[in-house]
Amino acid sequence: MPFRALQRVLRLLQGGDSSEGLLRRMEEYHPETYLHMRRTAVYSVLIGMRLSLPQEELDSLYQGALLHDIGKLTLSKELLNRKVDPGQPSTLTQNDIAEILSHPHAGYDILMPDEEAAHIALYHHRRKDGYPADVPLEDMTLFADIVAVADTYDAMTGKRTYRTTPPRSAALAAIQDTSRHLERCGRALADILSENPLLTDALTSGLSSRS
Ligand SMILES: [Fe+2]
Repeated sequence: MPFRALQRVLRLLQGGDSSEGLLRRMEEYHPETYLHMRRTAVYSVLIGMRLSLPQEELDSLYQGALLHDIGKLTLSKELLNRKVDPGQPSTLTQNDIAEILSHPHAGYDILMPDEEAAHIALYHHRRKDGYPADVPLEDMTLFADIVAVADTYDAMTGKRTYRTTPPRSAALAAIQDTSRHLERCGRALADILSENPLLTDALTSGLSSRS
């Protein structure tokens, strides 16, 4: 983990925040990420319901999904706000990339000893070609797969000031079958969206202000 990110993790650990406290911190630090975390939690629970998970598992899934990107508290605001212009050369330095790649591990460290939430944070970008590469793909759980699908979909369709969003069909197509449960979770999300065509708009506009 880059030194700056490590310092921020240590500061957060010293704060001893509850889940609520961590969420409030993110809401203040980077509202766009906070709203993305909330939308991802909603999509995750809808997928979980579609897969007939029991209520107590839905509760854990919701909590983990809500905090899946909490490791981004260790990234600088400047990096979180960096514009990405499609078709233009990336402005990310090697250090920037290392910091971005460290946020799943940072989230894990922040959320432990809540093992379920920490595991989701650690694995939500893990694919065959994903990261972090130093955690075994075969340890990815159904919860992590659900959040990975919800996270990918919202990252592509949620509000972004710096790019146009792709068609939802393209976003779904981009969710590949790269782990045990991903295809099943992607199919569940596709079914939910076809039955509720206004859901994405409702979430992106409804969760655009503090509530
Ligand atoms: Fe992430």
